Amino acid sequence: METQQYDFGMVGLGVMGRNFLLNVADSGFSVIGLDKDDSKATALEKEGNANVKGATEPEEFVKALKTPRKIMMLVPAGSIVDSVIEELLPLLDDGDVLIDGGNSHFTDTNRRMEALQDKKVNYLGIGVSGGEEGARHGPSLMPGGSKEAYEIVRPIFEAAAAKVNGEPCVTYLGTTSAGNFVKMVHNGIEYGLMQLIAEIYDMMKRGMGLSNEEIHHTFSEWNDGELQSFLVEITADIFKEPDTKAGEGFLVDKILDKAKQKGTGKWTSQVAMDLGIPISVIDAAVTSRYLSALKDERQQAAQILVHENPPVEEDKKFLRGELRNALYFATIVSYAQGMALLKESSAEFDYGLNLSDVAKIWRGGCIIRAKLLEDIMASYHHQPDLANLMLDDHLSKLLLQLHLDAVEIAKLGLEQGIPMPGLNAALAYFDSYRSARLPSNLTQAQRDYFGAHTYERIDEPGTFHTEWNQS
Ligand code: 6PG
Repeated sequence: METQQYDFGMVGLGVMGRNFLLNVADSGFSVIGLDKDDSKATALEKEGNANVKGATEPEEFVKALKTPRKIMMLVPAGSIVDSVIEELLPLLDDGDVLIDGGNSHFTDTNRRMEALQDKKVNYLGIGVSGGEEGARHGPSLMPGGSKEAYEIVRPIFEAAAAKVNGEPCVTYLGTTSAGNFVKMVHNGIEYGLMQLIAEIYDMMKRGMGLSNEEIHHTFSEWNDGELQSFLVEITADIFKEPDTKAGEGFLVDKILDKAKQKGTGKWTSQVAMDLGIPISVIDAAVTSRYLSALKDERQQAAQILVHENPPVEEDKKFLRGELRNALYFATIVSYAQGMALLKESSAEFDYGLNLSDVAKIWRGGCIIRAKLLEDIMASYHHQPDLANLMLDDHLSKLLLQLHLDAVEIAKLGLEQGIPMPGLNAALAYFDSYRSARLPSNLTQAQRDYFGAHTYERIDEPGTFHTEWNQS
């Protein structure tokens, strides 16, 4: 193999790595992929054009790349990333760019970035969203790290990213682990939206007795309007998928109701707790996945804690508009919470995020792409320091319009015993946020009563303590 021949290298030729590399090759760059599994390297070459090469040896792979080398890793997050770095590092030169494209925890990215700084190798953490299809035909890419290092790979990423109105769904987001952090919050919002859609489905199916065909048509119709999004679109598709294995019925009804997770939603909740940022819809979504896993207990409880579902009144059988508005309401709240977390974390970790840019690159290619992101992008464009999206002029009016329908659906859920933790969390967050006075004065009084934790007063500055119940 000739030396210094290829523009871009990929370590890890699993589905995501292979697809992204083929996408880069289709965008006009020569590429080489490294995988210890010979069959994967061969499969890559078979699938790609003349500018695509497979390799199994790190030395051969590194030598074949033009300098400064641009190498991306798409391997499972965790210790494998460290092993790949360890193996490549002695072979790299000053100024080479090493990119982690996996869902790495942002603290791991910070640690690796620091370690590699001493070695003069540039390290970027880039969030990649869009699944297999996105990787192949245009993902949303969320890069973080040094701006100069990003400039070296920018033409490749801009060419490979999804496009919206001709604009690539990639832009430099911020320093250090900003890219991984933004991707993590993207996934948190993804969890929230998926949970909300699942709750609405549950209400349609168990609460209102709709057929899969009716559910398919409803989501399909919603996808033609303001709720247009990738997740609503695929949800509509799911309800028309037949069960070819059993030869009858719909596949969705045969899938075990235990939701798995790889951890990015949980990380979002953990970080938000650490930073003190309320993201209750995302928290509810993470908790719901854990609850779903308790299948045996749930089955037992269903026999003991029997819920006598009152029949849904005829006029409530198909509250299509209300259901849609409830989903729309909670969807806006879910994005608002994720963006609020990004705003705070950017200040905390000095990322320098531009939230309008974040919304912009989420409009295409990624799992949470949605029409609503146009409004979110515009909102932060005009008000970069907006404390919360729910305060935006347009979105606040919209939320107020949708609110009563969301309440109606939440009430129906409670009456029917249909769990709607995401919707209820969105409503409670909305009401808490717009309460000029909350009952936290009582919480403070209790803390001071039992632990002398002190409190502040509304009429006088300072910190106070009372010997309660002495007079
Ligand atoms: C994406 C997705 C992806 C994520 C899956 C699975 O943006 O393409 O977010 O990165 O890994 O959605 O996540 P869970 O297994 O945690 O549901």
